[in-house]
Amino acid sequence: MTAAINPEAPILIFDSGVGGLTVLDAMRALLPDAPVIYAADNAGLPYGTKTEAQIAARVAGLLGRMTERFRPRLVCIACNTASTIALGMVREVLEVPIVGTVPAIKPAAALTRTGVIGLLGTEATIRQGYVDRLEAEFAHGKALLRHAAPELVAAAEARLRGEAVDPAVFARAAQGLRNQPGGAQIDTVVLACTHFPLLLPELIAAFGPGVRFVDGADGIARRIVFLTQGQAFARGHEDFALFTRDGSEIATLGPALTARRLMRSATL
Ligand code: DGL
Repeated sequence: MTAAINPEAPILIFDSGVGGLTVLDAMRALLPDAPVIYAADNAGLPYGTKTEAQIAARVAGLLGRMTERFRPRLVCIACNTASTIALGMVREVLEVPIVGTVPAIKPAAALTRTGVIGLLGTEATIRQGYVDRLEAEFAHGKALLRHAAPELVAAAEARLRGEAVDPAVFARAAQGLRNQPGGAQIDTVVLACTHFPLLLPELIAAFGPGVRFVDGADGIARRIVFLTQGQAFARGHEDFALFTRDGSEIATLGPALTARRLMRSATL
C-alpha cells in the first residue's frame, strides 16, 4: 500500500513564464482546494528560441531542485516547448507523477470540417518529432500547417504586465498560417503554446470568422483531477508564485498574480 499523500503537498505548475497561468486557471476551476505553487523560469524565458539540449537541461535541473525542495504531489509542465522536448526524460528521473502539455492536435482533428488545421507554437515546438507523431496518429489524411509565433510569447508576457501590445503581431501570426498553401481553408487553430490563450480575443479577431481555437488546458486539468482522485487537499499557507530571477518585470506582474490569488515568493 502506498503512503497517504500529505494534504498540504502542492501541485507544482511549471512554465518558462506566464503561459502556465492558463493551465492554472483551468485546473483551479476543477480543483479549487488544491494547494499550488506556480513556478516560472523567467531567467530562461523564452524557451522557444533555445536548443533542445538547453531546454532539456534547464527543465530537468529546475524540476529536480524544486521537487526536492517543495515535495509536490504532482508536477505539471504547463509548457508545450518543455513537454515536447523533455517530458520523457524528466519522467525517467523524477519519481513524482508528471503531467505534460501536448499540442491539442487530436481534438482539432475531430473538429475540423475543411480538413485544414493550423498550429501556432514556438520555433522549438513546431520542429519536434513529438508533433510529427501526433500529426501522423491523429491528423492522418488532414493538413496540419505549422507556424512559429515567438512574438506572441512576448505579447502575452507584456499583456500580463499591463503593457500595450502592437496589434500587428496578431495579424502577422494569422498571415503566417494563411499564406501557406491551403491556408485559406484553415477552420481550426491549435494554440500549441500555453501563452497564446491569454491572447484569444485578439487571435479570434485576426483570423476572422469561421475559425475555432483549441488548446490543451482543459484536458490537462482533467488529467490532474484523474491522477489526484481520492487525495485530500488542505492549504497550509497561501498559494505562491516562484521565479528563477528577480527582475523588475515581476513587480509589474503583481495584478495578474493577485487576481489568481498567488503570493509572490522569493526567487528559487
Ligand atoms: N509557454 C511555452 C509553451 O507552451 C513557451 C514560451 C517560451 O518560453 O518560448 O511552449
